[in-house]
Parts: sequence; C-alpha cells; structure tokens
Amino acid sequence: MTTAQTTELDVQPTPLALLLLGREADPKSERGVECPGDLPSPSDPDLVARARAAKEKLGDKVFVLGHHYQRDEVIQFADVTGDSFKLARDAAARPEAEYIVFCGVHFMAESADILTSDDQKVVLPDLAAGCSMADMATAEQVAECWDVLTEAGIADQVVPVSYMNSSADIKAFTGRHGGTICTSSNARRALEWAFGQGEPSATKVLFLPDQHLGRNTAVRDMGMSLDDCVVYNPHKPNGGLTADQLRDAKMILWRGHCSVHGRFSLDSVNDVRERIPGVNVLVHPECRHEVVAAADYVGSTEYIIKALEAAPAGSKWAIGTELNLVRRLANRFAPEGKEIVFLDRTVCFCSTMNRIDLPHLVWTLESLAEGNLVNRIEVDKETEAFAKLALERMLALP
Ligand code: 13P
Ligand code: SF4
Repeated sequence: MTTAQTTELDVQPTPLALLLLGREADPKSERGVECPGDLPSPSDPDLVARARAAKEKLGDKVFVLGHHYQRDEVIQFADVTGDSFKLARDAAARPEAEYIVFCGVHFMAESADILTSDDQKVVLPDLAAGCSMADMATAEQVAECWDVLTEAGIADQVVPVSYMNSSADIKAFTGRHGGTICTSSNARRALEWAFGQGEPSATKVLFLPDQHLGRNTAVRDMGMSLDDCVVYNPHKPNGGLTADQLRDAKMILWRGHCSVHGRFSLDSVNDVRERIPGVNVLVHPECRHEVVAAADYVGSTEYIIKALEAAPAGSKWAIGTELNLVRRLANRFAPEGKEIVFLDRTVCFCSTMNRIDLPHLVWTLESLAEGNLVNRIEVDKETEAFAKLALERMLALP
C-alpha cells in the first residue's frame, strides 16, 4: 500500500514490531512485558508433564484458579474454574494455600490479593495479562469526574458501583465513596443496593468502567429508560456533559467497554437467526445494548454455562462471549446433540486472557516449586483497605 493510500484510508501501520510472547519487552505498551526468567519453549513436548510434576510437588501449597476465558491448555490445570464472582469467592475461601496462581487477568489477581490474607501470595503467570476495559478508567480520571459531580452539586447523591473489571485503585475509590463492586452475575443486586442507600428518587449511580453492563442492567433488568442514562467521557471537559444533564440522570455511565464483547453487532444476531432457524441467542451483558435487546438470553459466563447444561438435546445456540469458552462448550455439549456456535463470523479471543499459556504456567509452577516467588501481584495496604470494603459489600449482597 502506498503512503498516499494509507493517509487516505486513515489507517496507520502499527509502529510496534510483533513481539514473541514474554520474550521481549516494549516499554510503550503492555505488549511483550518481559518474563523475568527463562520460558520453556512452546514446542517442548514435556510441558504437560512438567506442569503436572511441579503442581504435584507444590501440593496444597498452591491453588490454581482459572477464568472461563482461559485456553484449554491452561484450564486443565485449574483447581477451580469460574466467572469473576465465583473466583473472587473461591480465592477468599482457601486460607491454607500459600500461593494462589491466578490464570486470568490482572484485575482478578489484584482482587484475589485483596481478599486473601497477608501471608498468601497471588501470582499472575504473565504480567502482560491486563484488561483493556479496566485500563479505560484511571484513578486520576475518576477523581476528576468526582470533582465534576461535586461542582454540579450532586456528589452527595451519587453512589459509585464499579465492575470487578477495574483496577484496585478504582475499587478503593468506590469503597471510599460508599459504593460497591459488582460482577456481571450480581450487577442488578448491586444497583438495587446502591439505589437503596439514599432516597431512591434522588439517588444516582456512577457506573464504572463498562457502560454496556451499566446500561443493560439498568434498562433491561430494572426497567429504567435509555434517557435515564448519560455517558461520561473522561476525554472531554466535564465528561462532555452539562450540569443539568448530570442532575437529570439516574445512571452516569463511564465511557468504557470490552473490546471483545464490543465486536458483536445487531447484524451478527440477525445473520445467525437467518443461518440457523430456531437458534437461541445467548450473550454476555458486556455486549452493546442493541445486541442484548435482540438476544433471547443474557448472562455472565457462569450463567451461560448453566443455561447450556440445562438445554434440551437438539437445541441450537449462538453464544456472544469469548471464543475459548464458546469453543470448549461446543465440544463439551456436541455429544449431547446440542449445537453451539459462536455468534459472530469472525474469530474473537480476548488477547490478554490468551497471554497465559502453558509455557508461562510451567515457568510459574516450576519457579514456585523451586522456592522462587515470581510475578507476585500485591496491592498496597491503603488501597487494599478501601478496595476490600467495596469488595466485601459486594460479597454481602443478598
Ligand atoms: P464474567 O466472568 O464475570 O462473566 O466476566 C467476563 C469478563 O469479561 C471477564 O473479564
Ligand atoms: Fe477485559 Fe473484555 Fe478481556 Fe474480559 S474479555 S478481560 S473485559 S478485554
């Protein structure tokens, strides 16, 4: 492609060279955060045996958590699998494990560190396993937003509700301002709790950082209207909103989204209904509102699994969530005569979840087995105290 064409299309070639996972580092992006050790080769035929041996050597000292979006090669070594909510609870319920190896992403490992005791060490096999949605709300931006709400004279009516998919700093902000954390399996209960914190007609929720989960829960599950919601854009002065718009809103939605679930469109839903007559469309609530509105069922990853377990033989399903999970479910339920397809025609993995691969897991387990603590995720004490408050409010939701 010529330079003229490139300019015309407004598409710039990536300035970053493709890096081999974990072998080189690019300081300007999280891509290729260097692995502080020697990763085994992905082609080593003994990787499975090595992971098994290291895990056996560690015995009860190690507890491996695996999010549903993890690769098959990794999930086979998880002691428990789950959605964000289940894994947070499971991490908190294992006080005897010295090491919690979190096969998931950074914010999940932080939450596990907050919920476990000081002498337990949480380890993330690849430090580059972040989350683009969590990165869309920084502590500075959220503090600025609170100033905007204060200036509009509404801060004392606002209860923050932050999605689990946020940094420990954002969770601490939430705890400090009387709010709670939620996950996609308890967002409705979290919002009901929040609106019960003050005079319901005057109370507002600042929902961080996933606008879609906030909007879908408010509108689809709780009967609010789209007009009750405004979107706060941290990249615009005053969030791009007037004081009157903020005062009139019930839900102030942070302008963040999941880049994986954001790819499903109304066209994907219409297209699959045409291709597979009688198909049930089941999507994650991180999908856009029009997708959720057009779907037959909506729920967290744990909900999706349970729905498919309960589905009758011969039923057909199109699933709108991450591809590792959908592929695993399609293989698992095919022998029962359940047809399960991915909602979109294009491949859609979560690239950061995928960073945790077998070489990183083997390296982590072998390092721990040799007494070397690697890739520890540790939240500082002050942040931890307030973030814990917000997480415990979530765990106490009815
Ligand atoms: P759940 O596992 O809570 O459904 O969340 C999905 C997700 O995107 C995790 O990053
Ligand atoms: Fe973040 Fe979306 Fe990946 Fe979940 S699926 S870790 S929300 S980017």
